[in-house]
Amino acid sequence: MKAEAADVLVIGSGIAGLTFALEVAEHGRVIVVTKKDRAESATNYAQGGIAAVMGGEDSIEAHVRDTLEAGAGLCREDIVRLVVTEGPAKIRRLMDWGAEFSEEGGNLSLGREGGHSQHRIVHREDRTGFEVERALLESLKRHPQVELWENAHAIDLITDRHINENTRPRNKRCYGAYVYDLELRQVHTIPARLVLLASGGMGMVWKNTTNPQIATGDGVAMAWRAGARIANLEFMQFHPTALYEQDRKGRAFLITEALRGAGGILLNDRGERFMEAVHPRKELASRDIVARAIDMQRKTHGLEHVWLDCTHLDPDTLRKEFPTIYTTLRDEHNINMLREPIPVVPAAHYQCGGVLSDDQAHSTIDRLLVAGEVACTGLHGANRLASNSLLEAVVFAAQASKEAKKILTDSAGEELPDVPVWNDSGTYDHEEYVLIRHDVDEIQGLMEDYVGIIRSDLRLQRAARRLATITVEVEDYWRRTLVTPEILELRSLAQVARLIVRCARQRRESRGLHTTTDYPGLDPILGTRDTVI
Ligand code: FAD
Ligand code: SIN
Repeated sequence: MKAEAADVLVIGSGIAGLTFALEVAEHGRVIVVTKKDRAESATNYAQGGIAAVMGGEDSIEAHVRDTLEAGAGLCREDIVRLVVTEGPAKIRRLMDWGAEFSEEGGNLSLGREGGHSQHRIVHREDRTGFEVERALLESLKRHPQVELWENAHAIDLITDRHINENTRPRNKRCYGAYVYDLELRQVHTIPARLVLLASGGMGMVWKNTTNPQIATGDGVAMAWRAGARIANLEFMQFHPTALYEQDRKGRAFLITEALRGAGGILLNDRGERFMEAVHPRKELASRDIVARAIDMQRKTHGLEHVWLDCTHLDPDTLRKEFPTIYTTLRDEHNINMLREPIPVVPAAHYQCGGVLSDDQAHSTIDRLLVAGEVACTGLHGANRLASNSLLEAVVFAAQASKEAKKILTDSAGEELPDVPVWNDSGTYDHEEYVLIRHDVDEIQGLMEDYVGIIRSDLRLQRAARRLATITVEVEDYWRRTLVTPEILELRSLAQVARLIVRCARQRRESRGLHTTTDYPGLDPILGTRDTVI
C-alpha cells in the first residue's frame, strides 16, 4: 500500500503515547496508531492513582527512598530522582490538560499504597486511568494536525535492513513502521523521521493477568526484531489482589491496593491476618512481598485464594472512594464488599523490564524513542513501587518530546529514504485459528506454571524447551500466512515469553520480583547488574 509519511509516528494511545503526542503536536505531522479503540489501554483501567509529592509531611527524599527500597538495589538513582522531582509538575500538566482528581477540603486527596511511607497517591476515586485517558483524548481533539488511527496494528519497525537488505550498519536507525489496517485489511507503510514506541506491557503472556487484551508485548517484540537492546524482563510484577473467579474469562478484575491503603486486611481461610508475621508494614509491604506471602499461603494451606476483608471500614467511605470496585463486585459478581470479604489472588500486572532506554528516552536504535511500560528506564529496578508507572510514563513522554523537537529541528529539510512497501508474496489465508488459540493457551499456561511468582532452574528449563518449539512453529506459520491481528499477537507472545525466560535464566539469585528456589539469596556483585539482552 502507498507510503504515507509522518514527521512523528507514535505507536500506542495510552498515557505515554497521548502525552507525547500533545507535547509534540505543534512541531510537525504526528500520526498516532493504536491497535484497537482509542481508549483501550492499560491506562484506561488504572485504579489506584499516580504517585507524586504534593505536600503535607511528604518530601522528594522520602519518595526517592521508597522507590529505591522497592527496587531492591537495581534502580538507577539518577532516574529515580528525575522522575520523582518532575512528579508534581507533571500532575499539574495533566490537570492543565483537563484531568480532574479527587479532592478533600480544597486540596488533592492523597491515597496510600504498598511500599509508600506517606500518603502521596493522586487519584480520581478508583478510576484514575479512565479520567486521565478521557482528559488526554479530549485535549488531543484541540490539535487537528495530530491524526489518531484506530484499529491500526503496528507490525514491524522499519530499519536499515528494509531500506537496503545488504546493509549491516553499526548504529541502526528507525525510519517508520509497517501498520496493519484492520478495517481495510491492508498494510500501510508509514515512513517517519522518528518513532515513539509507547505500546504498553505484556501481561497477556500469563494466563492470569489484570492487563487488557492489547498487552501482548508487541513493542518489545518489534524492538527486539529490529535489533534494540532489551533489559530486565525477569521482573514481572504480580499484583497481590486480583479478584478470584473460578471460571474466569478474560482479564482478572483488579482490587486496588488503595483498599489496603484505606485499611483493608488480608486473611487466610482460618481468618488469620498472615501479613502480620511477614513484614512490619503488613498489607502495605511492597507488592513482591505481599504476592509471595499469598502464594505461600496458597501452597501451604492448599488454598485457591485468600480474602481481602474491608467489612470493618466505613461503608460510606468505601462507596464514595471505591465506586467502581463496589458496584462491579455487587452487580457482576454478587459480592457485597461492605458485608463480606473479597476472594483475591495474585495476577501478572506490570512489566518492569522492557526496551532499554536512557534518561532522554532513546532506545539503542537511532530515531526510536520509547516511553511508558514498554521501556526499561531504570526507575523500577527489580520491583516497581505502586503507582510509579503512570508517573514514569508522563515524565518519559516529556523527555522524549524534548528529544523529538531536537531531532525535528536538526533534520529539517532532510529527505526520507525510499521505504519499500510491505511484501506479502507467498502468504495466504490459512484460517487456522484453532492452531493460534491452542498456541496462545499453551504459552499462557506454561508461563503461569513455570514462570510465576516462585521459579526454579528446572521450571525455567522446561519453559525454555517448550517455547523454543512453539516459536519455531509460529515463525513457520507466520512466513506462510497473510497478516491478521491474531497471528501478530501470537508471534509477539511467543517471542516475548522466550525473552522473559532467557532473562530469568540469566539471573542466578532472588531479587525483587524474581524469586528462584535454586538461588534463594542475593548475589551482591553480579546481581546488581541489569539483565541486558
Ligand atoms: P498503555 O496504557 O497500555 O497503552 C498502550 C497502547 O499501545 C494502547 O493504546 C494499545 O492499544 C497500543 N498498542 C499496543 N500494541 C500495539 C501495536 N502493535 N500497534 C498499535 N498499537 C499498539 N499504574 C499506576 O501508576 N497506577 C495505577 O493505579 C495503576 N493501576 C493499574 C490497574 C490495572 C488494571 C492495570 C492493568 C495497570 C495499572 N497500572 C497502574 C499500570 C499502568 O496502568 C500502566 O503501566 C500504564 O498505563 C502504561 O501506559 P502506556 O501508555 O505505557 O501503555
Ligand atoms: C492499584 O490500584 O493497586 C494498582 C496500582 C499500580 O499498579 O500502580
